[in-house]
Amino acid sequence: MSDKDRTSWEQADREVQLIETVLASFKDTSDLRLRLVMQALVRHLHAFVREVRLTEEEWNKAIEFLTAVGHITDDRRQEFILLSDVLGISMQVVAVNNEAYENATEATVFGPFFVDDAPEIQQGEDMSFGAVGEACWVEGTVRDTAGKPIANARIEVWEADEDGFYDVQYTDGRTAARAHIFSDAEGNYRFWGLTPTPYPIPYDGPVGKMLEAVSRSPYRASHLHFMVTAPEFRTLVTHIFVRGDELLERDSVFGVKESLIMDFVKHDGSEPTPDGRDLGGNRWATPRFDIVLAPAGA
Ligand code: BEZ
Ligand code: FE
Repeated sequence: MSDKDRTSWEQADREVQLIETVLASFKDTSDLRLRLVMQALVRHLHAFVREVRLTEEEWNKAIEFLTAVGHITDDRRQEFILLSDVLGISMQVVAVNNEAYENATEATVFGPFFVDDAPEIQQGEDMSFGAVGEACWVEGTVRDTAGKPIANARIEVWEADEDGFYDVQYTDGRTAARAHIFSDAEGNYRFWGLTPTPYPIPYDGPVGKMLEAVSRSPYRASHLHFMVTAPEFRTLVTHIFVRGDELLERDSVFGVKESLIMDFVKHDGSEPTPDGRDLGGNRWATPRFDIVLAPAGA
């Protein structure tokens, strides 16, 4: 063995020894799940440092970055979720926890803009509450995987306005473009909303800077969020996307799934609306979204 080989063998040995020592430090963790998670985390982090031969300067930069992510985070702004989203971790957690089940509707990322206690609307009412955008009549059914209608499912919907902002991003305390509605006795639902338009995730913080440094866009493909709950069924958190949107291929948080892309059929202002609503000659659209819920525990 040459001197050079011996040195690099000793170096690798030192690195591996350190990992073993750190792993052993968790041996008394009585919560076995916690022990498993911590040890796996340590193994993967050390593997990362060793793979890229991380420099001390780079590690300091990483700590500065995470510190900035913490500093900008408060009750209204969650930069850690954004970070998880743009790294695809949120979608990986969704994938791991929502395994495909028969024909159940696929889940996607939750995002930071859901609000509890959004107003209830009745069938055919408008969830936009004055938010700007093209009107859109959304209808569909909620069923189980055998096709049986699910009555009284709670359907939460929320979306950005045409300017790309959720109500909570305005400082005037408005509630708009969000609501909940219950499916009727036949599992049907219908409401007026806004045709979704593309918008950027908040990019004025460290995550935005990181996206810029790696030449990535902060834009999300146009979407309308849904969360559907019903007793004895798995809660579904998902969106519908707009077929033809050029951002479908490069959604900044990797949320797009083919099965969630819907036709938003366009109607010009002269066509009668499904409920006779007068839209003053403006264009409108009609997506249909039939929802299938997996059983709880699936
Ligand atoms: C959203 O769809 O609302 C969203 C998702 C991830 C990050 C930021 C926004
Ligand atoms: Fe969104």
